[in-house]
Amino acid sequence: MPKTTVRTGSNIAFIKYWGVADAAINLPLNSSISMTLADAHTTTTLEWDRAGTLAADQITLDGTRLDERAATRLVRHLDRIRGLAGIEWRARVESMNNFPMASGIASSASGFSALTVAACTALGPEMGISLNPTRLSAISRLGSGSASRSHFGGFVEWQQGTNDGDSVAVPLFPVDHWNLYDIVVVVSSAEKKVSSENGHTIALTSPLLDGRVRGLPVALETVQQAIADRNLDALGPVIEQDALAMHAVMMTSTPSLLYWQPGTLELLHAVRRWREEDGIPVYFTIDAGPNVHLMCEAKDVAAIETRLATLSSVQRVIVSRPGPGPQLLDQHLF
Ligand code: PMV
Repeated sequence: MPKTTVRTGSNIAFIKYWGVADAAINLPLNSSISMTLADAHTTTTLEWDRAGTLAADQITLDGTRLDERAATRLVRHLDRIRGLAGIEWRARVESMNNFPMASGIASSASGFSALTVAACTALGPEMGISLNPTRLSAISRLGSGSASRSHFGGFVEWQQGTNDGDSVAVPLFPVDHWNLYDIVVVVSSAEKKVSSENGHTIALTSPLLDGRVRGLPVALETVQQAIADRNLDALGPVIEQDALAMHAVMMTSTPSLLYWQPGTLELLHAVRRWREEDGIPVYFTIDAGPNVHLMCEAKDVAAIETRLATLSSVQRVIVSRPGPGPQLLDQHLF
């Protein structure tokens, strides 16, 4: 398998991953549930340099060749895979997101899962790495926790687990179970000052962390049941509360992480207004950034888009449906 190309969707978490129990293996403090996205994906082509001509990995992201510093996290991930396979070959990697990196869509989720699948598939089974999605999910988790969930399509749970082998994602419901939409509203493209990688460690300093984590077993169950029933009015309040609880933890950690911008708040108020005054079933969630994800059903997308166009802080809108797990493509990026 000389060259391998994989496309993987990002995902939006309904119950978030925020905080690690064991940073060395990205063992989370809690299980999380997400929807894989069809319309926000990363495509990655990878080729192992079996001839040994490369002195270092050669990685291009969205058309820009990464220097040593920018490539560090990705090279570390390739090092893990080299370690598992017992090889020293460097890799040529080219990766393209179909969404802007600063959009509030997790490029680390789709990026690390695409890199994992491409790297392991290109090695071939003779290297002893199983290509089973559960195993690949565990490998991706070491690069970025949320990436573990992108190994399955539709609605997915990353089970907290207790060790490197069992902290993995499992599929809950397939992609065609529920045509739920994620309208990503970009209100700021400013770069994050603190990466989520660091945030997971400092979450432990927040006095609110325990309160959030204690409520999660019930919230996880409610979310799973609401998805099973395709019941947005049961799902929505729980996902809003968890996003707010996660941001309360972020804001009260040391150092304090304040990801919200004025536009974030404009959106939160607008969503409540549209729900209460216009009767539109739409609910928000927010990841580690200022941008807001609006969850709604297909019938309400147009009405929400019309209203978004009237808000001054909206810079850009990306609409996504539920998507499949990783796909192997025949067309390579190089
Ligand atoms: O996978 P990471 O380390 O980028 O963390 C992702 C954290 C959130 O996006 C904020 C929540 C989540 O569960 O996706």
